[in-house]
Amino acid sequence: MTILVVGATGATGQLVVKQLLDCGEEVRVIVRFPEKLSETTLSHKNISVITVTNILQLSEREMREYVKDCDAVISCLGHNLTFKGIFGPPFTLVTDVTKLICHAIKENKPQRTMKYILMNSTGNSNKNLRETVSLVEKFVLGIIRLLVPPQRDNEKAAEYLRSEIGQDNQDIEWIAVRPDSLINVNEVTKYSIFPSPIRSAIFNPGKTSRMNVAHFMSELISKKKLWEKWKGQMPVIYNDDPEEGGGNT
Ligand SMILES: NC(=O)c1ccc[n+]([C@@H]2O[C@H](COP(=O)([O-])OP(=O)(O)OC[C@H]3O[C@@H](n4cnc5c(N)ncnc54)[C@H](OP(=O)(O)O)[C@@H]3O)[C@@H](O)[C@H]2O)c1
Repeated sequence: MTILVVGATGATGQLVVKQLLDCGEEVRVIVRFPEKLSETTLSHKNISVITVTNILQLSEREMREYVKDCDAVISCLGHNLTFKGIFGPPFTLVTDVTKLICHAIKENKPQRTMKYILMNSTGNSNKNLRETVSLVEKFVLGIIRLLVPPQRDNEKAAEYLRSEIGQDNQDIEWIAVRPDSLINVNEVTKYSIFPSPIRSAIFNPGKTSRMNVAHFMSELISKKKLWEKWKGQMPVIYNDDPEEGGGNT
């Protein structure tokens, strides 16, 4: 399979690319700074690197070329955790790139349905399910939404997939993966997947390693049954280790 990865230079994106390459997939990445990728990745026979100054300035025609022949797209895009990254433009990076890629896929009229995986967050709710959030948490999330543009962006991107692409789209099937607080662990460890958060993202967050997020995403691509189980949903992923705020505590 050929998978397009955006956000491939990020902490999670790099792990996703490595796991896909290790599984024998062909990987195409659109990046600003290819030098952030490891030597092993850059020299891999199955990687193809597209360097752009600004992904948001790509035309739909250009994006149609990049997604052509792909089987899946994975977005690990996120706002860089700097003052400028969080509070400066582009405020709707994740949403706009999601829309750009989905429009390009639709315009290409693919022969088979394409998969789209969005890296999202437990701070976002799946409005297709009755996800209960306490009043206090709703209030705090409202303030974060108001003050922190990336929260709004993450919510809008998932909402676009949920409401605009929907459940019966003949061109695109999607999954929004929701990790809790991200941590770095060097190897894949035990993790659990739930349809909705089982703990408060604000007052009792769990932990999710980027490695496990990358592993789950790569399994979604390679395991048909797993994809069928979660397509059109927003699975939540927690590390199992209670020391790391495991999902089963
Ligand atoms: N932090 C948490 O605890 C947490 C929890 C749940 C979910 N999340 C979400 O998970 C996602 C990924 O997390 P991460 O830690 O892997 O992120 P990261 O390391 O900050 O990676 C972000 C990626 O987005 C790219 N990017 C940022 N601004 C860009 C721009 N203006 N144009 C093009 N590309 C741009 C970066 O590219 P460059 O290398 O070119 O900058 C990088 O590839 C984020 O959306 C975040 O909201 C985070």
